[in-house]
Amino acid sequence: MNSIYDCYELNNGVRIPCIGFGTYRAADGEDGAVVKTAIEAGYRYFDTASFYGNERQIGKAIAMSQIAREEYFLTSKAWKTEMGYENIRNAFMESLERLETDYLDLYLIHWPLPEDGFAEWRQLDIESWRALEELYHEGKVRAVGVSNFLPYHIENLLKNCEVKPAVNQIEFHPGYTQEVTVRYCQEHDILVQAWSPMGRSKVLEEPVILKMAGRYGVTAAQICLRYALQRRVVPLPKSSTMERMKQNQDIFGFELGEEDMYILGTMPQAGWSGQHPEKFGR
Ligand code: A2P
Repeated sequence: MNSIYDCYELNNGVRIPCIGFGTYRAADGEDGAVVKTAIEAGYRYFDTASFYGNERQIGKAIAMSQIAREEYFLTSKAWKTEMGYENIRNAFMESLERLETDYLDLYLIHWPLPEDGFAEWRQLDIESWRALEELYHEGKVRAVGVSNFLPYHIENLLKNCEVKPAVNQIEFHPGYTQEVTVRYCQEHDILVQAWSPMGRSKVLEEPVILKMAGRYGVTAAQICLRYALQRRVVPLPKSSTMERMKQNQDIFGFELGEEDMYILGTMPQAGWSGQHPEKFGR
C-alpha cells in the first residue's frame, strides 16, 4: 500500500481503500463542513451509520463536491433498534435516501445484540443478515458485513447463512487490539476495520507511543495508523482539521520494525472505550 487510494480486495472481489474517514461526532452542523474539508483533503471513503445522525450532511457534501459517486466508497450501518428482517430493509432504504444515493458500497450490522443480555440474538442476527443478503443480491449494496461482532457471533452467521460477511469493524488501536477477534477474521478472509484507531486520541499520550514516534520522526497518530495498516486492518480515523486530516494520510513513508509491532500489540490496555457487545455477560 502506497497511498490512501490503494485497495484491498474483499472476499467477494470488491475493492476497498486501505484508509477511510470516520464520521462519528465528526460531521455535526447543518452544512457538513467537516466532510467538505475531508473531501478537500482527499478522502473518498466515508464511514457513517444511521446512529451517527450525519448521513444527510454527508450526502449533501458529496452531492456538492461535483465528484462522481463511483469515486466514493460509502459505508453505513443498521443500528440496534433497526435489527430484524423488515426493519433493516427499511433502515437501509432510509440511509440511501439521506445519503442521496441509490447504492451503498458497504452496509453493516452495527452491533450483534440490540441490548445487553438479549437472549435471542442468534435468531435476530440471522434474520437481519437475511435482509442484508437480499439487498446484496438485489445490487443495492456492493458488500455486506458486521461491526463489533466477536468470533461466536460471526460463527452463527457462517453456520446459518449463505453470504459471508466481507468485513468486521471493531475498536482497534494499540492498547486494545482484540487479538482473538482479529485472528479469527483474518483466518476467515473477513477484512478487519478499526474504529477509533487512535483510541479517541487517548493513546496518543502514551509514553511508549510518543517515544516511538520520536524515533521514527512521525507523530503518535501516524504510529497508530501505520500499526493498523501493517496489521492489514483498515483504520477509520476522525479529525476536524485539514492539517490532521492530511497528516493521517501521510503514513506510507516509513515502516514499523518487527519489534515495535510487538511492542504496540502487547502494551497494557489503554484508551479502551469500555464498549463490549456483551459487557455484563450472558
Ligand atoms: P481533532 O478533531 O481535533 O483532530 P479516533 O479516530 O481514534 O476516535 O480519534 C479521534 C480524535 O483524535 C479526535 O479527537 C481528533 O481530534 C484526534 N486526532 C485525529 N487525528 C489526529 C492527529 N493527527 N493528531 C492528534 N490528534 C488527532
